[in-house]
Formats: sequence, structure tokens, C-alpha cells
Amino acid sequence: MNRKFPDTRLRRLRSNPSLLKITAETSLTVDDLIQPIFVKEGIKKAEAIESMPNVNRYSKEGVIDYCKSLMDLGIKAVALFPVIDSKKKDLEGIEAFNRKNLICGIVESIKKKIPELVLIVDVALDPYTVHGHDGILDKKDYVDNDKTVEVLKKQALVLADAGADVIAPSDMMDGRIGAIRKELELNNFFNTVILSYAAKYSSKFYGPFREAVQSSSNLGKGNKDSYQMSPHNINEALHEVEMDLNEGADAVMVKPGMPYLDVIRAVKEKFKVPTFAYQVSGEYSMLKGAIEKGWLQEEVLMEVLHSFKRAGSDCILTYAAEEIAQKLS
Ligand code: PBG
Repeated sequence: MNRKFPDTRLRRLRSNPSLLKITAETSLTVDDLIQPIFVKEGIKKAEAIESMPNVNRYSKEGVIDYCKSLMDLGIKAVALFPVIDSKKKDLEGIEAFNRKNLICGIVESIKKKIPELVLIVDVALDPYTVHGHDGILDKKDYVDNDKTVEVLKKQALVLADAGADVIAPSDMMDGRIGAIRKELELNNFFNTVILSYAAKYSSKFYGPFREAVQSSSNLGKGNKDSYQMSPHNINEALHEVEMDLNEGADAVMVKPGMPYLDVIRAVKEKFKVPTFAYQVSGEYSMLKGAIEKGWLQEEVLMEVLHSFKRAGSDCILTYAAEEIAQKLS
């Protein structure tokens, strides 16, 4: 190409708002948005989360109305996270595969009342363990991969049985997608979608989430570096995605989002499968916090979500889903 000024003036197409719109390369619609939701046992009213402006922990009853209001805005999927009573946490996270646990009950009741809403449910042990890790520890406090996978299989099965549409393993154990897929097929859950948190980084942006699910005190000064990915790496993310697809994942996720847009692009370009991105709690709180202080304008949220679309993500888990859906409508 040999375009030269003034034959080419790139500002021509920016000279009118409608021209700008019809020539937009990407767009963000309500179909792109997935709302993560926290649900807590034993509360009557929604509880605010201090480090996440506008985000609540919902009661079992309250979450139904909240989901209905999201549907009315056009949101088609939610990701559910349980806040577990500390009395139900133990070393091995056995509450995770109790078919009568909080999250299974919530999935059942939402499915009964709002069957069209897609329910994405996390598979990982961290809400259920006293140490806050996503798996079971061995004698040296190292997360035992294969022992953990055995429990994750059982957790996935009770969630599928309760009616979850999408099982989302967020634990980063090796081999868990294959094990879960086999377990689902064996039990005739042929259409249960597996969304793998395939490229999940060991990130400091998860802090507010850990406060929201009240697991930060459990994890203490510990970290998840022995199973979540190092922020130094991108080739490794492609290996993770390839393995998970080969093992039977239907869709993959990159997480966090904004600091890893290069990873989203690389995954989308190489594999061309449905690619989810998670604008995680810390990304949300950092933007919302600055907006609340008046340091940034609220439009930054939309700007950032467009960057996810540009990078190639098909849809976005964001705590701002409700707010953005309102703006878009
Ligand atoms: C649990 C899980 C985490 C998030 C989603 N699932 C936290 C973690 O891995 O410690 C983080 C989401 C967020 O920060 O918004 N395995």
C-alpha cells in the first residue's frame, strides 16, 4: 500500500458520528456480557462487598430476582460463585461434591424459574478448603494434582446433575478437563459444556474476589504459583489451551483480561475456538475506584471492554455487565 496525504486523510471517516459507527471494526453488545454473581448462605438481604463497588453477595432467594432483572436487560449468562460458611470448609473441600450444597440448590432453583438463563459454574476447591487453595495439599503443602482431579470430577458431576449448563474448571490442575469430560460422558451429560479457564495466571488482580468469597484469610500469605500460570509466559498459555481442547473443552478462557490482551489475541488467532475473557475483580475495582474518586470518567469501562473485543474475545465476564447492559439499551 502506498497511501499518501492528502489523497488519503484518515480523519475523513471520523468526520461524522454515523460514519464512525458504520465503519467500526468491532462492537460490544449485550450478547457479549456475562455477569459473575456471588451467592451466600444464611443471609436475608444482599450484602455489599467493600472492595467491589456496586457488587453484592446475594441470598438464595434474592439471587433469583437479580437474575430476572439481568435477563430483562438482555444478559444471557451468569457465572455463579458460592460463599461458603467457614464451618463447612475442611482440608479436602468435601462440601464441593455434596449434591445438597448451596451452589447445587441455587442452580436448581434458578433453572426452575429462569430456564433460558445460561448458568456457568466454577469447578475448583478454594471456596471449600480451610487453606484457600484450589486443591488438596500433600504433606509438604504442595497441591496434589491427581488427588485434586479426583475431587474435581465429583464436583463437576454434582453441578451437571443440578442443571449447570456450563462447567468451568478454574483450578489449573493438569488433566482435569479430560477427567471431567470422561466423567460427564459416562454419566450421560453429553451436552454439558466445559469452559476451561485454560490460561489462568497467578495474578494479584484476584484480591477483591477472594474478599468477596471470604477465602483471602484462608489463603493468608500463600499464593497459587505452583498451579496458576506465571505472568512471564505466553507460549505456555497456548500449550494450556491446546491440551484443554484436546481433552474435550468446548471453549476456553483467558484470565485476567486487560493485562493479558496479547494472550487473548494469540489464543483466538491460533485456535479459533470460542474465547472467553474475564475482567477480574481487581481490574473492575481499580477502574470503579478511580471513577468513584473522580479521577477517571465512567466511559473508561466501555473503552476497556472494547479492547477485549479488539483483542478477539467472543464474550466477557465482567462485574460491570449489568451496568454496561443498561448503558447499551
Ligand atoms: C477460584 C477463582 C478465582 C477467580 C475465579 N475463580 C480466584 C482465584 O483463583 O484465586 C477470580 C475472579 C476474580 O478475581 O474476579 N478458583
